[in-house]
Amino acid sequence: MKKLIGPKKVKTAVFISGKGSNLKNLIKFSRFKKYPFSINLIISNNKKAKGLKYSKKYNIEKKIIKYDKKLKTDKMILNFLIKKKIELICLAGFMKILSKNFIKNFKGKIINIHPSLLPKYKGLNTHLRAIKNNDKFSGCTVHHVTSKLDTGKIILQIKVKIDKKDTPETLAKKILKKEHLIYPAAIKKILN
Ligand code: GRF
Repeated sequence: MKKLIGPKKVKTAVFISGKGSNLKNLIKFSRFKKYPFSINLIISNNKKAKGLKYSKKYNIEKKIIKYDKKLKTDKMILNFLIKKKIELICLAGFMKILSKNFIKNFKGKIINIHPSLLPKYKGLNTHLRAIKNNDKFSGCTVHHVTSKLDTGKIILQIKVKIDKKDTPETLAKKILKKEHLIYPAAIKKILN
């Protein structure tokens, strides 16, 4: 695939709180011509997030935010995103819930990846819950973000088989691999 960071790419901010494997993967895909987005900003609410290392590695601006007063913080981020001309927000393991006002201002332009087959298992501990319920399949979902947790319209979803010997950790690994396939594909889908 040809690599290009062109002027026509949609300026994207990725919000993280931890490891950032989805962030790294999105950066990789953003460099392919076929994928119409560029990663221009990394936002983290956690100054110790491992994923912040990709800011230096790939020369992408980062901003660490301290969440004291939620509404005030959200307003500050919003203004910053506007200043940076960000057009799309990808949440990737971001552990904060954005305010209604924030979401309203970026309506239709915030998406999230969730490690379950939504609408099943919104919230945390998805893998453990799927295994405990003896589900045959779990998976991951990319969806639009609304003010209700893990609820917006689904963009793409991939199923993953749960084996008898799977633990939450092994299942998380298998699902994460699929996350890395569907997140860039979902962005491409909504931007094309
Ligand atoms: C992923 O499993 C994602 O679905 C969930 O948080 C995890 C983030 O992983 N929302 P990473 O930080 O991208 O490696």
